[in-house]
Amino acid sequence: MAKMAASMVESGEDAFRKIFKFYKRREPPPDLRDVTDFCCGVPGDKIFPAKLDPAAVSDEEAARVGLKPVRDWRAFGLQGYPGFIFISNPFLRGSHAFWIRQCLKTYPQKPNICNLDMHMCPADTQDIWGRSAHDLGSASSGKRRPKTLLEKLRWVTLGYHYNWDTKTYSANNHTVFPADLHSLSFQITAACGFPEFSSEAAILNYYRSDSSLGIHVDESELDHTRPLLSFSFGQSAIFLLGGTCRQDAPTAMFMHSGDVMVMSGQSRLLYHAVPRILPAPQERALENLGPASAQQDGGVLEPVSDEDWAVCCRYIQSSRVNVTVRQVLAPGRSLPETPPASLQRTAGGQVVGYHDGGKRKRSNSDSNTVET
Ligand code: OGA
Ligand code: MN
Repeated sequence: MAKMAASMVESGEDAFRKIFKFYKRREPPPDLRDVTDFCCGVPGDKIFPAKLDPAAVSDEEAARVGLKPVRDWRAFGLQGYPGFIFISNPFLRGSHAFWIRQCLKTYPQKPNICNLDMHMCPADTQDIWGRSAHDLGSASSGKRRPKTLLEKLRWVTLGYHYNWDTKTYSANNHTVFPADLHSLSFQITAACGFPEFSSEAAILNYYRSDSSLGIHVDESELDHTRPLLSFSFGQSAIFLLGGTCRQDAPTAMFMHSGDVMVMSGQSRLLYHAVPRILPAPQERALENLGPASAQQDGGVLEPVSDEDWAVCCRYIQSSRVNVTVRQVLAPGRSLPETPPASLQRTAGGQVVGYHDGGKRKRSNSDSNTVET
């Protein structure tokens, strides 16, 4: 627990909100000494090594999705949070570039849905990458250029598209889930003791340096016995993991590029939030994230061209991307269809975000999940 931050909290009050504000504050900047850093994590009173199942994933299967052999992963549990597993950057050197390019260039493409679709016609959101790539690089001499579509991107949904208005998934709002992201999620969950994970929905959040994500619980999925997986790319963040009620003071931890979190068991339905984005530490800086040569580390992912990587770098040097992958349904179950009226409302442009209510409350802006 963040000792200093927690000591400010009196019993009975919304401790989570108080600590959220503590880390979000700009002036004076918050003291970060109580933020757990798994990166240099020495097992101690709150961090302990998590047991994985290296036999569940072969080295070849791991390499195919850009992961190190499972025996080389540094995975931790956190005292007081059963089912929470933090894997400190299990990616092969060089494979970051592939996943960052997928998040910026591939996953925002149709038929996936993004915040820009809420007020732009499909033709205008058809090629977000193509329309942004050139301008993103143009460092205009002192003059402010209009934001590119990529810079306006706040969220993308995959698979069962989350309906921010009704806070539900539905059978008739679904497109094919990307096979590569499913494969990555499948290997990680298998190594963590959850075989047969089915990636059915994902939300990608795009954070600028002044963005935050409000306090919430992810409870819209119908099967809470399946873990929730979270990937971080680009700049770092402070992640707050709380309890089952807002009075429980959360634990603060850093998420750096490549870090993976698994929220399962009792930790699956805990309050959490991202109060702050921070510059990546030197060892996770951009120059260390670039694409590997084909021979390096046995990576077998499709290569990222220098041209694409240059665009990714320009974007990611001030941004963070988070991907959460969810299994929505218990095996053999299906979702109800959404009545057409509610679909129309969504198409009409109302978007909701996570706010301090803990449930995803409605907002009328398209900044949705990520509050800036
Ligand atoms: C979410 C979420 C956390 C993060 O999308 O539900 O909690 O690290 N994201 O951005
Ligand atoms: Mn969440």
